[in-house]
Amino acid sequence: MPAFAYVNGRYLPLAHASLPVEDRGTQFADAVYEVIAMFGSQPLDWRAHCWRLRRGLAALFIAGAPEEPALAHIAKTLWRRARLEDGLLYIQVSRGTARRDHGFPANTAPNLVMTARAFDFRQRLRQQQTGVAVVSLPDQRWQRCDLKTTGLLGAVLGKAEARRLGAFEAMFYREDGTVTEGASTNMWLVEPSGTLVTHPLSAHILPGVMRETVLRLARDAQFTVAERPFTLAQARTAPELFLTSTTGPLLPITRLDGRPVGTGTAHAGIPGPTATRLATLLWNEITRQTGWHP
Ligand SMILES: Cc1ncc(COP(=O)(O)O)c(C=O)c1O
Repeated sequence: MPAFAYVNGRYLPLAHASLPVEDRGTQFADAVYEVIAMFGSQPLDWRAHCWRLRRGLAALFIAGAPEEPALAHIAKTLWRRARLEDGLLYIQVSRGTARRDHGFPANTAPNLVMTARAFDFRQRLRQQQTGVAVVSLPDQRWQRCDLKTTGLLGAVLGKAEARRLGAFEAMFYREDGTVTEGASTNMWLVEPSGTLVTHPLSAHILPGVMRETVLRLARDAQFTVAERPFTLAQARTAPELFLTSTTGPLLPITRLDGRPVGTGTAHAGIPGPTATRLATLLWNEITRQTGWHP
């Protein structure tokens, strides 16, 4: 199925879609974006993604982007034209096109881009059975990781290094040893007591939509949850680690820096019971919201 795009009012095959050279997103990463999972043409957590997009636009002082109902209409039309079922909807809003100058241009309308691509979520169910490998890397990103901007070079280089080392994802840590998140995922640790730990919301991490959904499901299922930092040293001895993201959506981490996770426990190097249980709760939630069945 060919990928489709929407650019400032036009729907067209992705191969024919483009933005002007002086789009501020291209020259300054002066843009925010969202990636939304579509299960059988139904978006997951649509409102949470729109809320985060709106928050990012406000933080960057980008005004004039379409509101949620208009975005929903465009997304629906795009998905229909692309004749897709399962896939990823990408939304990007830049400050617009203007003569290159660092300062904000006056009277410039934002550029709105959406793309629609197929994505096989069932591959994730298979990866869930084996778990994935991660490698720890220093967090070299900027100081506002809470904003989902297209300035992703730190994440891109981290992901490339992880892939070079044969891993699925990077686990970023700060100078003090605190684990922040992955290059494009949020990181979780399960303590021996069963408590789930994930970095609190701050400028050091992206407020992941899947992170929020898993927090809600975990609390509803009576898990004890702590939003506090954990260290790389703690991760190395944790019974279980896992990651979450829109495209994940929840994958057990079974190797960290080449060593099995959960060393000394019954499930060392294989997915643990907590991540497996939470993943089941999450797939059930996906079915509840979208009607999708694995
Ligand atoms: C840095 C970072 N953290 C976490 C996530 C996960 O966020 P979400 O669950 O909203 O996909 C992403 C997603 O791209 C990300 O780029």
